[in-house]
Amino acid sequence: MPKLKITETILRDGQQSLALSRMTTEEMLPILPVLDRVGYHALEVFGGATFDVCLRYLDEDPWSRLKTLRSNLPSTSLQMVMRGQSAVGYRHQPDDIVQSFVQRCAANGINIMRVYDALNDYRNLETAISTARREGLTVSAAICYTESPVHTTEHFVSCAKAYVDLGAENICIKDMAGVLRPYEAYQIIKALRAELPAVPLELHTHTTAGFAAMTLLKAVEIGVEYIDTALSPFAEGASLPATEAVVSAFTNTPYVPTLDAAALKEAEEYFSTVRARYLKEGIISPDTLRASPGVSAHGFPTGTYSVLFEQLCRADATDRVKEVYEEIVRVRADAGYAPLVSPVSQIIATQALRNVLDGDRYKTVTEDFRDLCAGKYGRLPAPLEPIFAKQILGDALPLSCRPADKLKNAVEKYRHLVAPYAEQDEDYLTLAMFEDVARHYFERRKMQKYHLDFAASSAYPVHPV
Ligand code: CO
Repeated sequence: MPKLKITETILRDGQQSLALSRMTTEEMLPILPVLDRVGYHALEVFGGATFDVCLRYLDEDPWSRLKTLRSNLPSTSLQMVMRGQSAVGYRHQPDDIVQSFVQRCAANGINIMRVYDALNDYRNLETAISTARREGLTVSAAICYTESPVHTTEHFVSCAKAYVDLGAENICIKDMAGVLRPYEAYQIIKALRAELPAVPLELHTHTTAGFAAMTLLKAVEIGVEYIDTALSPFAEGASLPATEAVVSAFTNTPYVPTLDAAALKEAEEYFSTVRARYLKEGIISPDTLRASPGVSAHGFPTGTYSVLFEQLCRADATDRVKEVYEEIVRVRADAGYAPLVSPVSQIIATQALRNVLDGDRYKTVTEDFRDLCAGKYGRLPAPLEPIFAKQILGDALPLSCRPADKLKNAVEKYRHLVAPYAEQDEDYLTLAMFEDVARHYFERRKMQKYHLDFAASSAYPVHPV
């Protein structure tokens, strides 16, 4: 019986789920040598929402973060999460951008590429998986778990087979919303084990609904070998099961992983002080720390709630969150039961919010929602009802090919556009994925550098900007 392999997510999903990805590189730095000693299978450090938040809120260059983490974590494999053809952005990118993005991640020290497509459309992972394999990365292809009449065990198994055919080495069940029940996990893992006996299986589940520990146990008993956890100060609630609790639970069994207990303790103490500060400053909302059984009803992942919350604030409608959640369930069913995960979760939530604010469903249809219905993000899990398709798309036929086949290569274009700001090779990729957000960040970076240069060359000290 193989020992469990633990991927520690505190630097990515743990802090994304509880602290809106606000942990800075500076806050991570002092504890990296300790994390490097623990003996984790991997540390998840990059991708997901962290890339966006670095640019938008932290005034940090995400690529510099990756380089810093790599040089301070010499002994541990680094994992990142990539949204298939959207990379770490919200829209599909042309193949050459996706290829270059994967190449730069590999060159800057990523070892394991956890890649998923929001619609579980294998065509959207073709480029990411083939490039990652070519670059020597280990590919963990994640299947988004969601509940719906079409998300059957057969659906998940056929998805897994398609990903393995593309070159994925490991298959992960990704339960981003924390709604995967123990016996459902057992059935799915059992079927995957039977159909793909040689493929290592991974489980990524959140404790949101309150039963993740049970799910994890059932999954391990039937064949999951790799699990994602977060150190206890950033675990539980909307986050993942606590690393120390999982290790302790499997003590005196063949599954127990060999991790350095002293290093785990030291890391736990360090992050406890970070957590205390975040709580005091309101970065961690106490609501995310407890189980939210209601998540099973709407399945909206807390990790992406921050974007919705901001939209509600802007619309002065924070008191209507319950209505929006109910509408999210209806909009998702209309849109072929698309799993609620980035970028689709944001598209559906924005349309649901529009429907609620207008008081008239689909009076305004956002461009992204129309694109989603038109197949521009991939094949929807279930076809649209003909009447609904007509209402949203008019006479236009949905796209039947792989969406990226319609996108023109753009590396040269973005290399050209980034020229006034470029300070490193990766900047054009940041611009391609984040456009105005990237441009604003580059401008601030330039000003910061100007002031620093000026301070260094001036006899009179200036205030830092
Ligand atoms: Co997650």
